[in-house]
Amino acid sequence: MTQYKKISDSTGDLFHDLWKKFNNKIFLDSINLIKKRIKINKFHNEQFKNKVVLDVGCGSGRWCVLAKQLGAKKVIGVDSSKKNVRYNNKKFKNIKFVYGDNTNLKIENNFSDITISQGVIHHTIDVFKSLSELIRVTKKNGKILLLVYGEHGFRWSLIKRLRPICQLIGKKKLIKSMEKSKFTSNTIKNFVDDLFVPIQVQLDLNHLQEYLKTKKVKKIKIWSKNKTFDHEQDINSYLVEFNKLKKIFTNLENKFYRNLSLKIINSYISDLKLCLSSKITSRNKRFIVIGQGNHRLEITK
Ligand SMILES: C[S@@+](CC[C@H](N)C(=O)[O-])C[C@H]1O[C@@H](n2cnc3c(N)ncnc32)[C@H](O)[C@@H]1O
Repeated sequence: MTQYKKISDSTGDLFHDLWKKFNNKIFLDSINLIKKRIKINKFHNEQFKNKVVLDVGCGSGRWCVLAKQLGAKKVIGVDSSKKNVRYNNKKFKNIKFVYGDNTNLKIENNFSDITISQGVIHHTIDVFKSLSELIRVTKKNGKILLLVYGEHGFRWSLIKRLRPICQLIGKKKLIKSMEKSKFTSNTIKNFVDDLFVPIQVQLDLNHLQEYLKTKKVKKIKIWSKNKTFDHEQDINSYLVEFNKLKKIFTNLENKFYRNLSLKIINSYISDLKLCLSSKITSRNKRFIVIGQGNHRLEITK
């Protein structure tokens, strides 16, 4: 087994274990959230009609289900978790889910009218290889809907400081602590993803655009950074998130790991409060606290 397979498989299984705990309401809510995002960014529902849609790193299959609802002719979801693929194939009979690694897709050139890959390539061993695969499998003039983590921001910096400590504490203990704090399954999913996913990289928007230009794509449209309908929309929600992290680590038995992580989190909370109460423009506040935020790109090949 190559190293690519090993990391992509374990990443896939980490996500599958988190998703299988979701109930139907969370799943449907997450579809409604995407609907809001595509509407605000004027990606009209009709664009899915009679199209071949490929969702690479499809996870729970929410984008696939939406594409089917909006009239796509054929929808294929690819994921690196065999368990996930099996689970989705049982759940959604009108969509085909296949096992695969996005750095080496077993899909022909110019296959899909719309290729979706949301929150996936930044978890792979070679981000740009994954991106070039998405371009390869998309038809000329077809669209690629991409989400990739952006550079900077307090949250990623804090997460990166906590990740090695989390490795030593272990996933089980941290999940137990989150359950003790009665966090929702969505919150647990987000923290476990951030704190334990094997590969997690953030990309600079200019670098991403420069790469896409070398691939001679026709157009790059950047979706709204302000109306994201998530924590990035409101800078104050970062304080809520950091306090949730504080709660998780307060519950830990090991005194050293507990104290170290709390010291780190508290320093971020105090930096955050300093920024929130400062007189700098809200644009600059966002730039410091949120950083570039998630890049949601609509790429025309
Ligand atoms: C953050 S989730 C996003 C799921 C989905 N795109 C969504 O927006 O709901 C990342 C997904 O990518 C899958 N994944 C991770 N590495 C992969 C790889 N190398 N190839 C294919 N899928 C991968 C994981 O199994 C997981 O389902």
